[in-house]
Amino acid sequence: MAKTSWFVLCICIIFALYVYVYLEIGIFINLLMSSNNIHERWRNTDQVALGNKSCHTPSQKKDNTKKQKDSALMEYLKMEERTSKLKTQNAKQPRNCKPETNFIFNKPYKTGGSTVGALLYRYGLKHNLIAALPAEPTSSVIQPINGSEVLTLKYPCINKFPVYNYISNHIRDYNYTLFKQFIPKAKFITMARLPFRQMESLFYWKYLHISLGLQNFSNPFETFLTNINYRKNVDRFVKSFLNQLGHNEIKDLEKRLLAYDKEYDLVMITEYMEESLLLLKQLMCWTFDDIVYYSQKLSGRKPQHITSKMEEVLINKLGNDIRFYEYFNKTLWHKIHNYNGDFKNDLKIFRSKQTRITGSCSVKKYNDETCDLLRMDVPMYRRLIREVQFNTFCGNKTTEF
Ligand SMILES: *[C@@H]1O[C@H](CO)[C@@H](O)[C@H](O)[C@H]1NC(C)=O
Ligand SMILES: *[C@@H]1O[C@H](CO)[C@@H](O)[C@H](O)[C@H]1NC(C)=O
Ligand SMILES: *[C@@H]1O[C@H](CO)[C@@H](O)[C@H](O)[C@H]1NC(C)=O
Ligand SMILES: *[C@@H]1O[C@H](CO)[C@@H](O)[C@H](O)[C@H]1NC(C)=O
Ligand SMILES: *[C@@H]1O[C@H](CO)[C@@H](O)[C@H](O)[C@H]1NC(C)=O
Ligand SMILES: *[C@@H]1O[C@H](CO)[C@@H](O)[C@H](O)[C@H]1NC(C)=O
Repeated sequence: MAKTSWFVLCICIIFALYVYVYLEIGIFINLLMSSNNIHERWRNTDQVALGNKSCHTPSQKKDNTKKQKDSALMEYLKMEERTSKLKTQNAKQPRNCKPETNFIFNKPYKTGGSTVGALLYRYGLKHNLIAALPAEPTSSVIQPINGSEVLTLKYPCINKFPVYNYISNHIRDYNYTLFKQFIPKAKFITMARLPFRQMESLFYWKYLHISLGLQNFSNPFETFLTNINYRKNVDRFVKSFLNQLGHNEIKDLEKRLLAYDKEYDLVMITEYMEESLLLLKQLMCWTFDDIVYYSQKLSGRKPQHITSKMEEVLINKLGNDIRFYEYFNKTLWHKIHNYNGDFKNDLKIFRSKQTRITGSCSVKKYNDETCDLLRMDVPMYRRLIREVQFNTFCGNKTTEF
């Protein structure tokens, strides 16, 4: 009699355990299989207002399910990451340099900086580097205050944040001296694009063709620049981009160029993206996989012809930018010339890797970590990393999931 009841009890416990495990796995599989892709998941996550979160309650009560899902996904990504990191370690790549972990990417507007920005965040996430993020969760800009302190996201549970590894953001009021102190030993990286194209891109990005009612012209940007009616708008709109690199007033451009050249370890050129990425790889001692990219924010517009009349207007206003571009296009090719290795061959390897990975990701469904990470854009990364860092510094998540 006693034996039987023990037996029944055992069966019950085993059954309960089975149901529990089944449910857990079910949630996990459901998470993986759900038609939501990772983009939507992160997009749908409510803004995490870390500023008001208590350390002891890392997850807010409301919207708990969604948050749990997100944390679960994050755990999953981390787990996968550990495995693949192990794999790369075992792959034993012969390297005679140590990968750089500290960098500052001063991400300029309308240069394709988002593509590089996302790639850098991906590297940071994969290698558990600590990102300095904008102070406001909704902001995309990092900014010093009073020229003396870099304002970044604070976590409530630590008074003094540990040393940051990197920034991959727009930076307002950029000040080299200050940022050099902010992240010691950082490699400084920025980007330049043909100023005419950069301006064209800004024009459409700001929807000026719509607000000025130019959308029915065959080349709205041309009409804007060359039609006398818009002269005032042009005067207001077309301004040098160089203030993004600090120094609103550039008195002696040639001297400033030499200074930029010293300050920046690499100025990438949008028109030579892949070449630039190879130089980035060399500078940072990273791998080909690290620099595989996904073109972000493609507008879908075909670049239109820049007529000589347009050039005339633009040269007049973007003279400094053009000189800056030419200067750093030259240094780029100088670096390519001095590349340590067979540049052409490395470019071939990189391009085939790039084609293979983006090709396979274009057909692959979501929920493939490599592709999911590849497709994430900068705002998604910021949101994810904000949360990862919160969990790293402010609490253990063992009770969740
Ligand atoms: C933080 O909480 C205070 C009061 O509880 C509120 O006034 C403030 O708007 C909150 N800040 C954020 C960023 O949510
Ligand atoms: C920044 O400057 C303002 C006004 O000049 C001052 O009130 C404020 O205390 C300064 N903040 C810091 C952090 O120095
Ligand atoms: C840049 O930062 C340094 C170091 O904090 C400071 O001494 C300098 O005044 C700043 N320059 C500007 C233009 O704000
Ligand atoms: C552009 O063309 C469409 C259709 O041809 C017309 O409906 C619209 O009013 C035009 N817009 C302007 C700003 O002229
Ligand atoms: C950049 O520099 C290279 C090498 O000097 C030159 O061939 C190329 O035309 C330049 N590109 C642009 C867009 O000016
Ligand atoms: C989280 O847990 C690990 C071990 O379980 C511990 O080493 C670490 O200090 C904990 N972190 C925090 C922030 O409590």
